[in-house]
Amino acid sequence: MPSNIVEALKVELGSDVFFGDDIPLRYHNDWAGLSAVLPLALVRPRTTQQVAAAMRICNEFKVPLTPQGGLTGLNGGARPIEGGVALSLDRMNAIEEIDTVMATMTVQAGVVLGVAQKAAEEAGLFLGLDLGARDSCMIGGNLSTNAGGNRVIRFGMAREHVLGLEVVLPDGTIVTSLNKMLKNNAGYDLKQIFIGSEGTLGIITRAVLRLQAKPAELASAFCGCPDFPSLLELLKSARQRMGSALTSFEVMWPSFYDFMTGSLPDLRRAFNEPYGVYVLIETGGRDASENRLLLEQVLTDALESGWVSDAVLPSSERETRDLWAVRESVSEYSKLMGPLTAFDVGLPTSAAGRVVDDIEAAMKARWQDAIALSYGHIGDSNLHVVCNIPSAGKEQPHKEISELVFGFVASEGGTISAEHGIGLLKKPYLKLSRTQEELALMAKIKQALDPNNVLNTGKVLTL
Ligand code: FAD
Ligand code: LAC
Ligand code: ZN
Repeated sequence: MPSNIVEALKVELGSDVFFGDDIPLRYHNDWAGLSAVLPLALVRPRTTQQVAAAMRICNEFKVPLTPQGGLTGLNGGARPIEGGVALSLDRMNAIEEIDTVMATMTVQAGVVLGVAQKAAEEAGLFLGLDLGARDSCMIGGNLSTNAGGNRVIRFGMAREHVLGLEVVLPDGTIVTSLNKMLKNNAGYDLKQIFIGSEGTLGIITRAVLRLQAKPAELASAFCGCPDFPSLLELLKSARQRMGSALTSFEVMWPSFYDFMTGSLPDLRRAFNEPYGVYVLIETGGRDASENRLLLEQVLTDALESGWVSDAVLPSSERETRDLWAVRESVSEYSKLMGPLTAFDVGLPTSAAGRVVDDIEAAMKARWQDAIALSYGHIGDSNLHVVCNIPSAGKEQPHKEISELVFGFVASEGGTISAEHGIGLLKKPYLKLSRTQEELALMAKIKQALDPNNVLNTGKVLTL
């Protein structure tokens, strides 16, 4: 073994390891908006064996290694560590198998989510995981963050889509557990510990995903409701009457809807009138005409009950895209506002209206020019609030804003992260959502798997 890590990586990985100026800028950071970090080395392996070799070398030299997927993570989890090695899974992007009898798909970790979705559909099946970053994020990143997204109300979080995993442990051991069976109770369900661990316990190299029956049609509707209690009545009615056909319930408060449609000229408002709160509903049934009929019936009844003031049912794919474009315009935030303090909190659903009102009022009371945009996957009790104080420029009061928002979340018994995870940005606040005993157990698991503390060191937990 060479006496320094650079030589050891060169010997094992040859032209698949990069140094200095040969490391493209995109690998210096994720989407969290932190300052960029040039890693000591970037490894872009093509095989699980190469991943294991890089991991083993880092463990031997006690140098931190950060796994990277599509780099769309929003908490700094994939940002390289100073003096550490970044390992991107982007070259491990093969769809190895689609089994239409088992309804499974076996993929390498670097497959882009949108590519996996398309491949499932081409095979007559459907991958129920979907999020705005679908064209950049990768399956390994989705599983490592236990991503949520727009269809959790129907198909669950990323965890629910996983049947098997292959993982490289911090000492370089490869654990292949590519189970395809829906039922397998032979001992501990080891995959669960890696899903949602944000690359701190193992590097996911391959996964078996569970596929679904393809809906005959996905129909969307956009509604303006007079207020949040009315929206809750609509949610109850849609859930009870549509059951598993309800695939999305995405809510936008006027703070978000007016700001985005007012700032981006390509976005069109659906109504001339302003309403108290807006919702995008998506349904997917086994019969296209029945699916649409049910959606129309639910909306007609909601209009008659006064829970919905106005509704649009798009009649073309183009109109559907226009409605979703407002919801998906979140990728433009930084361009519009600069540095952000962003949240993905979880709350009891019925408290979300009150919490939004409280947060938006408190932000304006504390900073006159505060921007606080509220929206979220309210069908899954998951609220996003995105904040910026224009007068603060680059020196955003992140800590003060976080304390303000988390104060309201704590008073309702909510969680500081419903879907994006902890990474670096939310680490100081993890104790607000977890007990001392939970934190101690997390640390024990980390120490057991990674005694040298080399895998994504300092992310999620400080040991
Ligand atoms: P990365 O950002 O590369 O990494 C994320 C974390 O996983 C890091 O800690 C990294 O170290 C680790 N990691 C990556 N790959 C591996 C691997 N193979 N093995 C072990 N660890 C690994 N998130 C949601 O949950 N719901 C949403 O609706 C949503 N919408 C988004 C919309 C936009 C426009 C953007 C920019 C982001 C959105 N996100 C959302 C956040 C982000 O897309 C998800 O967290 C996504 O799952 C990250 O995947 P990635 O491949 O980009 O991972
Ligand atoms: C969203 C991301 C940011 O739902 O989670 O837009
Ligand atoms: Zn989200």
